[in-house]
Amino acid sequence: MEASSMRDLDVPTRILLGPGPSTAAPRVLRAMATPLLGHLDPEYLKVMDEVQALLRYLFQTENELTLPISGTGTAGMETALCNLIEPGDAVLVTVKGYFGERLYEMASRWGAQVDRLDRPWGQVFEPEEIETALKSRRYKLLALVHAETSTGAWQPGIAEIAAAAHRHGALLLLDTVTSLGGLPVQIDEWQVDIAYSGSQKCLSAPPGLAPLTVSPRALEAIRKRKTPVPSFYLDLVQLSRYWGQERSYHHTAPISLNYALREALRMVQEEGLQARFNRHQANAELLWEGLEALDLPPLMPRAHRLPTLTTPQLSPAIDDIAVRRRLLQDFNIEIAGGFGPLKGKVWRIGLMGNSSRREYVTLLLAALREVLA
Ligand SMILES: Cc1ncc(COP(=O)(O)O)c(C=O)c1O
Repeated sequence: MEASSMRDLDVPTRILLGPGPSTAAPRVLRAMATPLLGHLDPEYLKVMDEVQALLRYLFQTENELTLPISGTGTAGMETALCNLIEPGDAVLVTVKGYFGERLYEMASRWGAQVDRLDRPWGQVFEPEEIETALKSRRYKLLALVHAETSTGAWQPGIAEIAAAAHRHGALLLLDTVTSLGGLPVQIDEWQVDIAYSGSQKCLSAPPGLAPLTVSPRALEAIRKRKTPVPSFYLDLVQLSRYWGQERSYHHTAPISLNYALREALRMVQEEGLQARFNRHQANAELLWEGLEALDLPPLMPRAHRLPTLTTPQLSPAIDDIAVRRRLLQDFNIEIAGGFGPLKGKVWRIGLMGNSSRREYVTLLLAALREVLA
């Protein structure tokens, strides 16, 4: 295509009800138009401190090392794994969907000896079965997905699982990409050792940052490493020197994305955590009721169903792709399809952050009623 033929960027205003990104609030988008500062400017250092304080509030933690990693949720996954794994370390990954599968693959790539504990997609783990698996070998790390975006499963019992991990000498890694900001994530109360998320899901900032928090116990394990962290970019000790007192240059921070995250986190604080969780739950319940009425029953049983990501099951008569295309073309609504073993069998509907709104649920249900008729 000829560059000269390109016009001003002009994209439709979609209602983003897929698994992320969610719809960003205008004030979050506006924050990105704030003038750039240098990444060591004293005014920017203040922004960094504010972002860290807001992230501690959100993660419900006192962890000093709490920061946004430059990169999407996947960068958070890589950071957590590559800082804790040394070649040959034994790691146990629990797999009950695609993102557990990805953790398994990544841990192997970072040189761990990885064992996996599997559950079919759409199920969750019992703390007892994880503890049994932890007894089989001396693991350094146990990895678990809190909110499995491929299935809509909400893993319960994090505090019990963390306690079991600690009883057997392992650290607990928790993926909170689809939970942080949408349902309770209590890092200190539950004694989670390392957790990460993504800016574009329940925080409704643009994609590109991965909030991450590290417990003193995990930090000690990182400091005791015998080999350097294999990634320079994601090395937490080096990053802590930029985000902590020393302020030494590591990489140029994505300034505008951090402005946006700060604004999104301010919105979380203004709303209050409990009110925010209640809103996510209430809108999800409205959605579930409407889906049942349309004969699209959610895959997950109520007890383990995420309010942030719902997976309605499709009857064979429904043309998955055609319906989603019409939602996008005629209603400007994005939802996503299933994948892996759930491809063509479910949709994935996200009600995350600023996208968790009663009026969006009403519009989506009305649109589905029309398209399915
Ligand atoms: C549970 C979970 N973990 C990790 C990721 C990876 O995040 P990203 O796509 O932002 O790199 C996702 C993204 O959907 C996710 O849902």
